[in-house]
Amino acid sequence: RPRVLSGIQPTAGSFHLGNYLGAVRQWVALQETHDAFYMVVDLHAITIPQDPAELRASTRLAAAQLLAAGLDPERCTLFVQSHVPEHAQLAWVMNCITGFGEASRMTQFKDKSAKQGADRTTVGLFTYPILQIADILLYHADLVPVGEDQRQHIEITRDVGERFNGRYGATFTIPKPYILKETAKIHDLQDPAIKMSKSASSPKGIVNLLDEPKATVKKIKSAVTDTGSEIVFDEDKKPGVSNLLTIFSSLTGTPVPELEQAYVGKGYGALKTDLAEVVADWVAPFRARTQEYLDDPATLDAILAEGAAKARAVAADTLAATYDRVGFVPAK
Ligand code: TYM
Repeated sequence: RPRVLSGIQPTAGSFHLGNYLGAVRQWVALQETHDAFYMVVDLHAITIPQDPAELRASTRLAAAQLLAAGLDPERCTLFVQSHVPEHAQLAWVMNCITGFGEASRMTQFKDKSAKQGADRTTVGLFTYPILQIADILLYHADLVPVGEDQRQHIEITRDVGERFNGRYGATFTIPKPYILKETAKIHDLQDPAIKMSKSASSPKGIVNLLDEPKATVKKIKSAVTDTGSEIVFDEDKKPGVSNLLTIFSSLTGTPVPELEQAYVGKGYGALKTDLAEVVADWVAPFRARTQEYLDDPATLDAILAEGAAKARAVAADTLAATYDRVGFVPAK
């Protein structure tokens, strides 16, 4: 079976529709056909300041949401990044073969550090993509299912992996991004020019999966739509409506052209009312399942412990091979 690996940050608390449609839904599908490794990236989370108690709670909450979304510990390996120390260990080696200029060109780093200012930006935020390189290469992943915003991080993983293989001999599998065109970028409901994101969106622009269904309905009904009244998919002229159609289509499985057909002669209001119901019907059982996992922390922690053991077995082999290639003397 080909292998997939991906990760999600725990720090947002609730996942949003962009996380789900852009990434997590593909994770669930791929566990049926691939050897799948998925993790909650708590090491990445501390690149910006975190309250310890909140980080601990949000890490378990992230795992609970992944299980509620349909990840099955019988079909995939689900773990917490800090439980597998090889991530940090391989990241050091990767730090030493990544160029400073190369890392400086990462757009997510440039955006985030520009917002924070140099004195508040940690060195960890700078090397964030290098840790991600280690995450991916450790598991010999063939595919990395992510949203569009992660494409550059997969590209640098390919570059650095190839550089290592060229310098030290074939060691790592060079991964490909797995990005579904339709849902690669879910947009902010209030500002369709930007992606839906915990850090950039206003609360009204973001559909959190753990919001009260009532709040969800309200947000969708007050989504910004475009001039005109026709419901057609056109990302340039009608970015707001197109985003709603994408969400509608991907949650119901109804192709966009069929939706356009169904709404001929109806207004934006009708589309938003129906979509609000679709989303509310989807989030209600998701919330309930998430709560069930949270109510049983012993089971949740046991799932994560088992996942970490499976992940470590793979990661330890890769790290040992890498250390050998680099020229480190074996420890025993
Ligand atoms: P994170 O936690 O920001 O996001 C998790 C996943 O959700 C996707 N996503 C979106 N997709 C479509 N539309 C949106 N509006 C949207 N917002 C977020 C992201 O693309 C991502 O796939 N650096 C990663 C975590 C990571 C990782 C890895 C991923 C760490 N190590 C190794 C893959 C492989 C991140 O911050 O994702």
